Formats: sequence, C-alpha cells, structure tokens
Amino acid sequence: MGHDHATVRVGVLGCGNVSSRYLANLAGQPEVTVVACADAEPARARALAAAHGVPEVPSVDDLLAHPGVDLVLNLTPPRAHAETTLRALAGGKHVYTEKPLATSMADARRIVETADARSLRVGTAPDTFLGAGARACAALVTEGRIGTPVSVNAAMMNAGPERFHPEPEFLYQAGAGPLFDIGPYYLTVLTALMGPVARVGALGATARPERVVLTGPRAGTTFGVETLTHVNSVLEFADGALGLLVTSFDVTATRTPHLEIHGTEGTIVAAQANSWGGPVLVRTTGDAEFTEVLPEPTASDGFMGMGLVDLARSILTGRPAQATAARGFHVLEVLTAIADSARDGGRFVRIESTLTAPDGQRPAATVGPGSA
Ligand SMILES: NC(=O)c1ccc[n+]([C@@H]2O[C@H](COP(=O)([O-])OP(=O)(O)OC[C@H]3O[C@@H](n4cnc5c(N)ncnc54)[C@H](O)[C@@H]3O)[C@@H](O)[C@H]2O)c1
Repeated sequence: MGHDHATVRVGVLGCGNVSSRYLANLAGQPEVTVVACADAEPARARALAAAHGVPEVPSVDDLLAHPGVDLVLNLTPPRAHAETTLRALAGGKHVYTEKPLATSMADARRIVETADARSLRVGTAPDTFLGAGARACAALVTEGRIGTPVSVNAAMMNAGPERFHPEPEFLYQAGAGPLFDIGPYYLTVLTALMGPVARVGALGATARPERVVLTGPRAGTTFGVETLTHVNSVLEFADGALGLLVTSFDVTATRTPHLEIHGTEGTIVAAQANSWGGPVLVRTTGDAEFTEVLPEPTASDGFMGMGLVDLARSILTGRPAQATAARGFHVLEVLTAIADSARDGGRFVRIESTLTAPDGQRPAATVGPGSA
C-alpha cells in the first residue's frame, strides 16, 4: 500500500508505565513521528506529551479517528488490546500493539481478518527477536554451527512484576500472568529460531492467592491473583525438535540459564529473550569451552520499539515487516494452548496455525541503533 508521507505519523494510545520508554526510543527514528497521544485518563497523556514534546493530546475517540494519524501505537493493558486495535483499524489506522496481540484467539482472528480486509498493517511486540542477540543465534543456526537443532530449554523465572510496577494488578489478571506477560518474549524468539510449534502440554500452579504492591504510592496494597503464576510447558516444534519453557512469578532467585539451543553438533547459550542483546555463547563438538559470539548488552543491540520502526519502514517502502500480526497470532495460539493444557491437567494440545515466510523467517537487521 502506498504512503503519502516520508514518515509514519504515530498516535500513542495508553500513556502508562511503558510509554515514556517508547517515546524516548522513537525520538531519533526518522521513519516515525509521534504526533499525538491519548489515554483513558487524560492527565497521563498530558504528562507524557509535556515530557516528550508530543504536539497534540486528543481524546481517545479523537485519536482513533484523527486524520493526521497513520498508525496507532497501542500501549494499553492486554485486556484492552483487542477492542482498541479493532477501533483503530475501523478508523483506517495501521496498528503496532504491545504484547500480546489479544487475550483470546477469537479476538486475534478478528484483528488479523479486519486488517487484511482493510489492507492495513498490524504489528505486535515483542521485538526482542530483532535485536542483535537473537540475530546472532539465528545466524549460528542458519550457518549450521550447531548442526540440526534438536532441543531448546527456556526459563523466565522471577519474583513478579510488583517489584517494579506501581500498578501490577493487571499482570495477575486473565490474559496476563507470567505465561502471557513474559511468555511472548520466549515464544517469539523460539519460533523465530526454531520455526512454528505443533503441539504443547503444560502444568501450572498458583503459589499465593494474594500479592502485595511493592513500589510506588500504593505500596503495601494487597490484591487478588486470577492467573497461574508458575507454568511448566513442553513444546514440540513442527520440524520435530523439542522444547521446555518455564514461566514463573513464584521464584525468589535462580541460576538456571535463560535460553539454550542444543543441536546435533553443538549448543548455543542465548541471553534473556526479553533483552535485545547478548551475551551469546556457542560451543561445538570438540571445543573445550564456550566461545563468546556477542558480549554483554550494548545500546546498539536494539531497543523497545524497533519492531514498530521496522513496520513503519515496511509501510513506507512496501517490503514485508517482521514483527507481524501473523507471528503474534501463532505465538498467542501457543500461549493459549499452554494455558488450556495447564488448566486441563496436562493434556497435549495441537497448534493449528503455522508460520511461513516471510512472516516466520529468521530475524534480519533492518533498524538502526537506539537505546533499549
Ligand atoms: N511496564 C513495562 O515495563 C512493560 C514492558 C514491556 C511491555 N509492556 C506492555 O505494555 C502494555 C502497557 O503496559 P504498562 O505497564 O504501560 O501499563 P499501564 O497500566 O502502566 O498503562 C496503561 C495505560 O493505558 C490506559 N488505558 C487503559 N485502557 C485504555 C483504553 N481503553 N483506552 C485508552 N487508554 C487506556 C491506562 O489509563 C494506562 O495509563 C502492556 O501490554 C504490557 O504488556 C509493559
């Protein structure tokens, strides 16, 4: 689809915790220009606009119908993603949404179908798979350095987001929890490296029915937990490789590696999938030690929002985007199937969607440096 401007004009919807990080990262990117921001709580939009020089602060309805906005950057909480993304599409806007794409497969399907019907683009976070760390892993796999990949071990385990988020309640509601909040990072990186998932099984648990806000003005407030807070899952990839994925907000401390990829000829140790950088290490048959392929993270590895910049470039040039709704759709189906399996005592669930090129291809560098 053609585009009349040299930059994609972005309207930010949702001006909460993560929004200032996006605004700071997008400031130096010529492909995007933030022209407006809105929030259901207008004071938040005004504060964000004042801090980052955003010219307009319309109402939510006006932002979604704004003739000067080409793309809505959806930074609302997960439970609001589908409704707001569909309203933005109805207003003729492209959308880039924070993860997950939606909280149900029915909503995700509606989003993909609506975007297709209107020839609009939808992209979704996470975009860490576009960072230097995942790209280094992808290059090692593509070059055959570890032979044929046969298994992956992935774990993201911590003591929960109430340690840093001043309003963490939504992260313990349906559509969030560790599986849906941090699982998208791992499944996006894993499927980018290993291809689509064919089957999953899982067990889950909730260690505590209540949690406590630990930071900000509401510190000390108790709230109820509506989700599983520890999920152990087994994945079977379409090409036969096997995976283990643990997501947890019930772990005080860990020394488990975040992500390892084991092949017939070697092993890759990758960084956390919610990071854009390294370290990345490889050791192949006959090596006495691991070799560092990429050092600790640096500012040039990538940044939160590079998926949006990649999408904007694709709108401007017509070439395929990488952090696509199709990728997010497959990841959401896997997440949903893991949750269903865990609720159903571990019954294995088949995944219907798949990933084909260009939507599922291994990540490539297309976006310039920024800060994470
Ligand atoms: N906080 C982080 O560190 C972080 C990191 C990565 C990704 N994310 C993702 O970013 C998204 C937002 O997270 P957050 O932490 O900024 O949440 P938040 O609750 O701090 O902010 C969300 C904002 O959206 C507004 N909002 C809610 N419903 C709305 C609606 N229907 N229309 C307009 N505005 C609405 C709220 O008033 C609030 O200001 C989530 O999808 C989350 O998964 C957050």
